[in-house]
Amino acid sequence: MKRIAVFASGNGTNTEGIVNYFEDSDLARVFVVFCNRKNAGVVDRARLLGVRCIVFSKEGLQNGEVLAKLKEYKIDMIVLAGFLLKVPSDIIQQFPDRIINLHPALLPDYGGDGMYGMHVHEAVVENEEEETGITIHYVNDDYDEGEIIFQETVEVDYEDTPEDVQYKVQQLEHKHYPEVIEYVIKDLD
Ligand code: GAR
Repeated sequence: MKRIAVFASGNGTNTEGIVNYFEDSDLARVFVVFCNRKNAGVVDRARLLGVRCIVFSKEGLQNGEVLAKLKEYKIDMIVLAGFLLKVPSDIIQQFPDRIINLHPALLPDYGGDGMYGMHVHEAVVENEEEETGITIHYVNDDYDEGEIIFQETVEVDYEDTPEDVQYKVQQLEHKHYPEVIEYVIKDLD
């Protein structure tokens, strides 16, 4: 049974979907949720779901504390689900091809610094894009630039607000992210 660690900073709807998807799986479980904001919705969700949740500081991420916990828990794969800090190099090196991220747009468009959550959807609407979507990719040292594993698109209607776009994108995320995680885990040794 592979052990998944989910890293999240926000509301946690994807985290909840991933926990539920693997609840009865023969392949993997969400073993722990790591969150850098103690008041984030994901902390309450994890508690309600009965999954252990570790709240850590930015320093803890950078000074090896989080890495030590990942080793202690014998984590096989790290899944970022609305995680807004940069994953430090020591963690990336210890988990080669074992960290994946979900981005709420079609990378390489709308990626990079400052492009997260609602900022992405606002930019998509402002630029009058006709489609947007999701990207699931491996995490490397360059923000939003790791190898792409999966993309799916959705139409943006001319009257859509950023909130409408967010809703459409989240529907795609909830549908596809757990399945793509499963696909990646099946390939791990
Ligand atoms: C998701 O839409 C995810 O794609 C985005 O944050 C949201 C988290 O929602 N991630 C990024 O913008 C990362 N660059 P959730 O907390 O409800 O799962």
